[in-house]
Amino acid sequence: MSKLIALIPGDGIGPEVIKETIKVLNVLAPDFKYIELDLGGVAIDKYGVPFPDETKKKVKEVDAVLMAAIGGPKYDNLPREKRPETGLLALRKELNAFANIRPAMVFDSLAHLSTLKTEVVRGTDLVVVRELTGGIYFGQPTANDGQKAYNTAVYTVEEIERIAKVAFEFAQKRSKKLCSVDKANVLNVSQLWRDVVTKLASNYPDVELSHMYVDNAAMQLIKNPKQFDVIVTSNLFGDILSDEASMLTGSIGLLPSASLGDGTLPGLYEPVHGSAPDIAGKGLANPVAMMLSAAMMLRYSFSMNKEADILESAIKSVLDAGILTADLGGKSNTLEIGEAVLNRIKVPV
Ligand code: NAD
Ligand code: IPM
Ligand code: MN
Repeated sequence: MSKLIALIPGDGIGPEVIKETIKVLNVLAPDFKYIELDLGGVAIDKYGVPFPDETKKKVKEVDAVLMAAIGGPKYDNLPREKRPETGLLALRKELNAFANIRPAMVFDSLAHLSTLKTEVVRGTDLVVVRELTGGIYFGQPTANDGQKAYNTAVYTVEEIERIAKVAFEFAQKRSKKLCSVDKANVLNVSQLWRDVVTKLASNYPDVELSHMYVDNAAMQLIKNPKQFDVIVTSNLFGDILSDEASMLTGSIGLLPSASLGDGTLPGLYEPVHGSAPDIAGKGLANPVAMMLSAAMMLRYSFSMNKEADILESAIKSVLDAGILTADLGGKSNTLEIGEAVLNRIKVPV
C-alpha cells in the first residue's frame, strides 16, 4: 500500500527511536514513502519557531504523521509561544487530533519489572482516552505577568460529547467498562463533563459507566489497576494518569499513543514519553513505545492489521527473550532492540 508518512524526529531521543522504527516499517510496508518535518527545538534552531509553516502545510497533505518527541532544557526559558511544547500543541490542534488513545498493557514477561508488586500489575490491560485539544491546555484567558498567572479550564458540551463517544465505542469493542475521571466535586468544568458523559451513556446501554474523582483514580490505578478497562478523561488529567499508568508496565519507554480526529485529517502517532534529555545520544532509549505507535498507525490509519500484528508479536517476542534496554534493567542499546525486532519480522519466531 503506497502511503506518504510525515516523520517528525524532534529532539533528544526522538531521532534515535524513530530511526529503529523506520527500519522495521521498511520491511513491513516497503511501499511507504516518507517526508521528514521539523517540529520543536530542532525547528526553533533552524527557523526560530517551533511549528514552521512548511510543517503546518505538509502535515495535512500526508496519510499519517509519525512523531517521536520534542523539547529539552535548552528551550525551557523561551517565551511560551516559542517553546517546543507550544509547537506540539499547535500540531495537535491543526490536525484536530482531539482523541488521544493511550493503551497501557503489562507484558506478562515484564510484570516483575514494575516497581509495583507483580501480582498487582500482572494482567493489566487498560486504555486512557485523553481529550487532547481542549481543557486547561488551550482555555482562554491565560496570562503570566510575573505577579499573577492563570489558565482557564474550558470544555463545551460538543467537546465532551465527541471524546466520550470515542471512549464508549472503545469500551464496546473491549470489555464494555468505561470509567470517566473528573474532579466534579470541586470544578464546574468537571461537573459539565460528568453530566454530559452520564447523559450520553443512554446511547450505550451495553457499556457499564462509572465515574471517579481524579485523586481517587490516581490512587486506584496503583492499588488495583485491573479494575480499569477504558478510562476517559480531560487533557491534563489524562496527561498525568497516562504517565502513572506507564509505571504499571515497567517503563514509560513502552507506551504508545494515537492522536485522532474525526477521520478527515491525518492521524498523529506519538509515544507517551518525552525527549528524555538525560539519556539522549547515549543509545539508552527504549524504541518500543515508538514502534508500538507505528503499529497503531498501521492499524488505525491504514487498516493494515496483519502487519500491525506481526510488529506487535515481534516486539513481544524480543521482550519475552529478555532483550531489554536499561529502563527495564537490561543491557541492550536502542540499535540492538531495533535489530532484534527486525530479525523477528524477517524470520518470524
Ligand atoms: P520524559 O518522558 O522525556 O522523561 C522522563 C524519564 O523517563 C527520564 O528519566 C527519561 O530518561 C525516561 N524515558 C523517557 N522515555 C524513555 C525511553 N523511550 N527509553 C528510556 N527511558 C525513557 O519526560 P521529562 O523529562 O519530563 O521531559 C523531557 C522533555 O520532553 C521536556 O522538554 C518535555 O516537555 C518533553 N516532553 C515531550 C513529549 C512529546 O514530545 N510528546 C512528551 C513528554 C515530555
Ligand atoms: C505528552 C506531553 C505533552 C503534553 C507536552 C510535551 C506538551 O507531556 O504528550 O504527554 O502535555 O501533552
Ligand atoms: Mn505527558
